[in-house]
Amino acid sequence: MSEDRTFDLVIAANRLPVDRETHDDGSVTWRRSPGGLVTAMESVMRGREGAWIGWSGNPGDAPEPFHQDDMYLHPVPLTEREVGDYYEGFSNGSLWPLYHDVIVPATFKRRWRAAYETVNRRFAEAAATITATGGTVWVQDYQLQEMPAMLRELRPDVRIGWFNHIPFPPVELFMQLPRREDLLLGLLGADFLGFQRKPDADNFLRACRQLLDVSVEGDEVRLPDGRIARAAAVPISIDTSALAELATTPQVQERAAEIRRQLGDPEHLLLGVDRLDYTKGIRHRLKAMGELYAEGALDPRTVKLIQVATPSRERLAAYQQIRGEVERTVGQINGDYSPIGATAVTYLHRSFPREEMAAMFVAADVMLVTPLRDGMNLVAKEYVACHGDDGAMVLSEFTGAALELEQAHLCNPHDIARLKDTIIRAIESPIADRERRMRTMRRQVMTNDVQRWAELFLAALAAAPERPAQ
Ligand code: ADP
Ligand code: F6P
Repeated sequence: MSEDRTFDLVIAANRLPVDRETHDDGSVTWRRSPGGLVTAMESVMRGREGAWIGWSGNPGDAPEPFHQDDMYLHPVPLTEREVGDYYEGFSNGSLWPLYHDVIVPATFKRRWRAAYETVNRRFAEAAATITATGGTVWVQDYQLQEMPAMLRELRPDVRIGWFNHIPFPPVELFMQLPRREDLLLGLLGADFLGFQRKPDADNFLRACRQLLDVSVEGDEVRLPDGRIARAAAVPISIDTSALAELATTPQVQERAAEIRRQLGDPEHLLLGVDRLDYTKGIRHRLKAMGELYAEGALDPRTVKLIQVATPSRERLAAYQQIRGEVERTVGQINGDYSPIGATAVTYLHRSFPREEMAAMFVAADVMLVTPLRDGMNLVAKEYVACHGDDGAMVLSEFTGAALELEQAHLCNPHDIARLKDTIIRAIESPIADRERRMRTMRRQVMTNDVQRWAELFLAALAAAPERPAQ
């Protein structure tokens, strides 16, 4: 593969920021890819003149590279079988559950692992082709953990960073992974490894110490060849001011008021926004809400919940199962408690434009963010950026966001009784308390936005101990 252009900054992520949609008449359109990685990295790359390597979201030949919003998008092809083995298999059937506390069992297949290696190599080759001499390659997330070492072999001159958008598990869980050492050595091809929380970086360093023949001192790993890789926490964030600005536009404010009217002007509007993933704790949240309606602690005529559940990884059995459970529970709650013409729970299983998401955040009095495990959870930060001082947030202790947004009403979503109490406490919290909490959280999210995150990461990468060979 020869490429005319090279770039000083190259991002490699499983997905491009846009997904290709081929219609029945053969025409092709592109739509925004789902998930927090794209939300964050799109803002980072805007105006930076970099390249983004990723999959187009469909099996088969990759489209030609193209430009979009100042970015050069370089599609990497995946065959139908690789989508099954690398993406749905090893990435989302082995690694995703293992890295999220095995909420569902992790499955290991040697065929999946082989495909993961093949695809990681393809990404490394693509990056090697389009990165300028001495340039920087920023590898993203758990789908590309073997890529850093593969790229280093091909291009020892480039600086390589890796950021994990999801948790890194304790070594006791990580050890279950077959050929776990190869994955760690793959990561150690990077000069700097970034994690959402310090405990994630510590878990990684502990795994290196325990499972590899390396020396670990502080946050540095020294490899047998003398190279050093550094691992530290750099918590990701959102484009806070852009989102806050969007939320104050008359269109978004009017739409927020309209959403409330459409729901019959509830006294309290609660909101959940998640990819439909078993890690997000949607079932636990609905269980708590159902019981609160059943006990009369919440009145279904005046307290409404909107639950946005974005379609995700729909061919995987675990995702089909959680969808079935969530939809059954929503049906049961509405069947049991909704007044005629105004359902207690509005369930939305689709994607929305940014403006509509912002309007929902503005409209909601209480945000419910209750994952069982989540690397960060950008939705929590988005609510804080969009909503006024009178908001309140119930936030799971098992999110990266909980370490930064300590003024939220923190909860253990497994403890349904306490979760119910916390929801009630958030709903009933007095205005002065709400204002104090929201202001502190907004300051945190305003100061630590995604641009600052990218600057911190890139500065740490540039300063990482090992200088590339010139
Ligand atoms: P994850 O990366 O696991 O999906 P995050 O909470 O970190 O979780 O990020 C989710 C991102 O996707 C947020 O920016 C959120 O606003 C966006 N999002 C979630 N659901 C929808 C939806 N239905 N339509 C549009 N954007 C959505
Ligand atoms: O970090 C979470 C993540 O897996 C990202 O890699 C991705 O942007 C998002 O969730 C959505 O998942 P998928 O790309 O599998 O649809």
